[in-house]
Amino acid sequence: MSTHEQQWNDVDTYFAETLALTDPALEGALKSSDAAGLPQIAVSAPQGKLLQLLAQLQGARTILEIGTLGGYSTICLARALPEGGRLITLEFDPRHAEVARGNIAAAGLADKVEVRVGPALESLPRLQAEGLGPFDLSFIDADKVNNPAYVRWALELSRPGSLIIVDNVVRDGKVVDGGADDPSVRGTRAALEFIAAEPRLSGTAIQTVGTKGYDGFALAVVIG
Ligand code: SAH
Ligand code: DHB
Ligand code: MG
Repeated sequence: MSTHEQQWNDVDTYFAETLALTDPALEGALKSSDAAGLPQIAVSAPQGKLLQLLAQLQGARTILEIGTLGGYSTICLARALPEGGRLITLEFDPRHAEVARGNIAAAGLADKVEVRVGPALESLPRLQAEGLGPFDLSFIDADKVNNPAYVRWALELSRPGSLIIVDNVVRDGKVVDGGADDPSVRGTRAALEFIAAEPRLSGTAIQTVGTKGYDGFALAVVIG
């Protein structure tokens, strides 16, 4: 780890301690995810709290998440929901979904959260067919190659004023490589280009450093 990366880690640790960004439910979610062999790619504690605050600012009653993993970001987002609020999270891997369900229940959020197993591109049309949505906030954090399709779906399942967040749009700066063969880079670039070209979306992207390295989020609001 470079000196800078060590510093980013130290500052995230400092923020997490000073601002009390962790608690037994979140720590437990990470622990059980590790124990089950899930990859350590959940959002960081400061990022998770940012998701919670954004959902609160948004007054979100309905949240869509694409990419559950062990449910860490799910718990952060679901904590912002009022009584009667609902979060649907889509996960391809049944093992991840099972770990996530346990973590969500342990966090006391089982009544607000539904984990749906399967490829998101199959689950999304089903949500639409079931008349679910519009979602006040969508958090896109699954396979990056499908990011353009996920942003389209999030828009399709939105209303004016909905917020769409896309994780991992920087990836150590790789996003600037227009000639990249990496399908994740291509998917992320295409999603950003879609946001820029879509008149119903007003968006930006923010670079971040921390325990997740050098990365960032895109944010877009659905306009009238
Ligand atoms: N949002 C989580 C991290 C998600 S990691 C958090 O921050 O806590 C990405 C997840 O997307 C993985 O669990 C992976 O299995 C899932 N995934 C990958 N491809 C997918 C697909 N096509 N449909 C749904 N989920 C997918
Ligand atoms: C990866 C995926 C993520 O969602 C993330 O936040 C970090 C890394 C990955 O696939 O490597
Ligand atoms: Mg991510």
